[in-house]
Amino acid sequence: MPHRGTPRRYRTTVTERRLLLLNGPNLNLLGTRQPEVYGVTTLAEIESRVADVAADAGLQVRAVQSNHEGVLVDAIQAARADCAGIVINPAAYSHTSVAIADALRSAGLPVAEVHLSNIHAREEFRHHSYVSAVADMVVAGAGPLGYEMAVRYLAGRLAQ
Ligand code: DQA
Repeated sequence: MPHRGTPRRYRTTVTERRLLLLNGPNLNLLGTRQPEVYGVTTLAEIESRVADVAADAGLQVRAVQSNHEGVLVDAIQAARADCAGIVINPAAYSHTSVAIADALRSAGLPVAEVHLSNIHAREEFRHHSYVSAVADMVVAGAGPLGYEMAVRYLAGRLAQ
């Protein structure tokens, strides 16, 4: 119990200290999934690297991967309570999901969208992402480095 004269310490809210790292369908297969397109780095390796880069900036990470649209929407809604920003690779849902874009729009958090491959150099149906309209930054084609860039971007935004 603090005694008289002790300066009161205000705990910084966790909201300011955590990023949500969200990966969509089939990204659990990274490492073995079309390595010629997505490389050989596993999702566990990406999550670990993201956690390290975020830690350097004083940020924690909650990593969620799901193959289900509704689970991704739930994770975005939950982030409103205790996260300061979202790094998302919506995978195939980028090109189809109004629900995920709406959830991100409602979250009121800075959003960094990541694609391992350069979606603009691939099939036409991959050129449009619903998420890009709500993202503050988009990186595509940088491989796993794109996640690192996204974290650094959000850390910079949060430090402002
Ligand atoms: C992806 C690109 C999407 O078009 C694709 O459906 C994915 C991964 C990428 O990281 O390059 O699953 O988001």
